[in-house]
Amino acid sequence: MKTLCFVLGLVAAVSAGNIVELATQLGAKTLVKLVTDAGLADTLATGGPFTVFGPTDEAFNKLPREILERLMRDKTLLADVLKYHVISGKVYSSQLSNELTAPSLLTDNGEAVKIRINIYGQKVTADGSPVVLVDQNATNGVIHVVNRVMFPIPLRNIPTEITQEQRRFSTLLTAVTKANLVKTLEGGPFTLFAPTNEAFAKVPAATLQKLLANVTALTDVLTYHVVSGTVFSAGLSDGEMPKTVEGKTVTVKIGSNGVMINDARVEEADLAVTNGVIHVIDTVLLPPAFNAGPGIY
Ligand SMILES: *[C@@H]1O[C@H](CO)[C@@H](O)[C@H](O)[C@H]1NC(C)=O
Ligand SMILES: *[C@@H]1O[C@H](CO)[C@@H](O)[C@H](O)[C@H]1NC(C)=O
Repeated sequence: MKTLCFVLGLVAAVSAGNIVELATQLGAKTLVKLVTDAGLADTLATGGPFTVFGPTDEAFNKLPREILERLMRDKTLLADVLKYHVISGKVYSSQLSNELTAPSLLTDNGEAVKIRINIYGQKVTADGSPVVLVDQNATNGVIHVVNRVMFPIPLRNIPTEITQEQRRFSTLLTAVTKANLVKTLEGGPFTLFAPTNEAFAKVPAATLQKLLANVTALTDVLTYHVVSGTVFSAGLSDGEMPKTVEGKTVTVKIGSNGVMINDARVEEADLAVTNGVIHVIDTVLLPPAFNAGPGIY
């Protein structure tokens, strides 16, 4: 039924109105309601031109209930989240390029918080949210329909994010620090498969001790968890073998139990950071034929 409404909406979309009218025609009812609640309807109907990454009703329905309720209650937060879906000017999909960052209407201390656009083959994502329909023309702008609600990315880079989340990444932080990789991980953009403390705890204690004492081996293992570029989960495909910074490849498997990287399960995908993305994994990855010296593995 939802799909049908959506398709009917598309047919009606031929007669373009302003952004709010077009969003209504596209069937984005929740978006229009929230934009109205946040007091942004006038701006989006009469201002512009704007480019809007408009989430579907389904995208809002996928949000945890507490978050949706909080957005409905807190109008300032709601307006911030919605502004984060809007950039100034008309930007068509043909003008989007990989790793493009575009300033949104949301500002933090006077600075625009940027949306990051990534392109995987033909697939466009905005902050990891797949764009399911591009280039819908309104009189005062353009709408790209996304299937996930975007939240402003935390203004943290990879090392800061790991440091902030010691509860689950303290071993990883220790390892990264011992291998002198903090500076490297401030660069990028990188995709980091981040093993949790539980993942490191699965490595036999004596082995972990030796690994932490051998910087060469440790560097090999850690850089085997890093891929160049920002690869959100939407950009991963089954059977793909991305090359790691260490040099060897990891294998991506996408199946009924989610996304696997070699033998590690992705517990949480798409933790956006300023210089890439982190996917949290439950097992430490070891390069093929890895040998850290006598007595290790
Ligand atoms: C919207 O307008 C642009 C520029 O004129 C055009 O390239 C695009 O195809 C239009 N979109 C649709 C869905 O017709
Ligand atoms: C340290 O690790 C490297 C690379 O894995 C290995 O070749 C070397 O033998 C190890 N050194 C010691 C002292 O175990």
